[in-house]
Amino acid sequence: MENIIASAVSQVGDTGHEAAPRRSPPGSFVIFGGGGDLTRRLLLPAIYNLACAGLLDDGFSVVAVDRAELTDAQLQRNVRAALEDFAARRGAEAVTLREDIWAWMQPRIRYVRGDFESMQTYQDIAAVVGDQNCIFYLAVAARFFGPIVDRLGEAGLVREGRHTFRRVIVEKPFGNDLPSAVALNERLLHTLTEQQIYRIDHYLGKETVQNILALRFSNGFFEPLWNRQNIDHVQITAAETVGVEQRAKFYEGTGALRDMVPNHVMQLLAMTAMEAPISFDADAVRNEKTKVLDAIHPLLPQDVVRGQYAPGVVGGKEVPGYRQEPGVDPHSLTETYMAMKFQIDNWRWAGVPFYVRTGKRLAARKTEIAIHFKSAPYALFRDTPVEKLAPNIMVIHIQPTEGVTMQFSAKIPGPSVRLGGVRMKFDYAEWFSEGPSTGYETLIYDCMIGDATLFQRADNIEAGWRAVQPVLDWGQDARSLDFYAAGSEGPEAADALLARDHRHWLKIG
Ligand code: BG6
Repeated sequence: MENIIASAVSQVGDTGHEAAPRRSPPGSFVIFGGGGDLTRRLLLPAIYNLACAGLLDDGFSVVAVDRAELTDAQLQRNVRAALEDFAARRGAEAVTLREDIWAWMQPRIRYVRGDFESMQTYQDIAAVVGDQNCIFYLAVAARFFGPIVDRLGEAGLVREGRHTFRRVIVEKPFGNDLPSAVALNERLLHTLTEQQIYRIDHYLGKETVQNILALRFSNGFFEPLWNRQNIDHVQITAAETVGVEQRAKFYEGTGALRDMVPNHVMQLLAMTAMEAPISFDADAVRNEKTKVLDAIHPLLPQDVVRGQYAPGVVGGKEVPGYRQEPGVDPHSLTETYMAMKFQIDNWRWAGVPFYVRTGKRLAARKTEIAIHFKSAPYALFRDTPVEKLAPNIMVIHIQPTEGVTMQFSAKIPGPSVRLGGVRMKFDYAEWFSEGPSTGYETLIYDCMIGDATLFQRADNIEAGWRAVQPVLDWGQDARSLDFYAAGSEGPEAADALLARDHRHWLKIG
């Protein structure tokens, strides 16, 4: 069964004329926070992967900007170490750094030391980048987004030429509630045009997230079923096994809601629920996303569960509760888990709940979207041993498994009519051999070629915040916090949220 389905896919999809992606235009990739963790773990390996794929122009260079005292040579040594580390982590086989690629990259890596608030830093950057194309990547704490963009403007660094571009990539968190996101948009738009701003959400760099649109809109048989007539409800899960790690300072003031929901989870929801855009043009896609998020009905307190992990066992190891983690207030009310029931008030989805949950220290690492279809009428089975028809479920697996499974009923061989639940599975890795990626390759490359489809427009960001703002307005208190053991499926209150509607969550672990 699996083979029949997937070979049909390859016959239809394989035109034999795959156009090679073009090289990026020449230019400087300036990273504010060039000595930081994101740069080392993800951005530089992504650039290395783009170089391996032959997608970078010879006129490409990286300029790392940070506060530490470093020479170009020292930075290059650090980058090499980071890339070796990345190569070694690439998969089952040990992979070593490609020396030909390193020989190409090394002379293209420069360092500018400076304070993000000082004009001198920007003059030094201007001297290095000249008047060529530039992308400024803000891999810094959110409090620097505004000041850096202000200074870039004052230094004339974001003025575009007739044939040159100046773009700014902004990391998350983009604001910490709706008013601050609106204010940040206003501040950035004072200096930049919307077309120059690339607000990143790394979930959109994931192949499997991008595949949601391909799956829905390149196949004839999903879309006719994708509505309230056929779908009972949708479950979106973004579960992690990791705890707060070394990020207590950031996480205490952020929590699971702000950290995951208005951005990553809302992207998954929007991709699942949006109408078909008229093209893959950036604005066409982003218009539809905003429209569906704007149709979300304001949340009610009974539709929201906030949880925090207590001590427990994860992967066979005892782990402390959130309040016992280093740097966390022992009476902290910060949530590490959220479950919510969203209702989308439009013709396609009215009456179809979208249940979403996300949390740390859960039973397994799993991000998936489960579409639960309505059951078929039972009438035919009245006189058989079949007591109940199982619903069909289509699960889009985002990570760590990447693929799609369909659950349906089949007759169990034998003389009487009995049904068994079976599963059809499409596994990404089985069908497509892609090199390992960090998820940032596509995003960086798209920014270089000026394709903003996978980036968030100001209104997308604000729509995400608007959907969760009621919860922020209620504020935190001890009554609204439910505890769950680390390594479990989450708080009982989350089960009760679905039980109230006579439904239950798919298991995480
Ligand atoms: C980040 C959050 O944006 O996403 C982290 O700040 C979270 O807290 C991470 O762990 C999850 O990303 P991924 O790609 O591992 O699902």
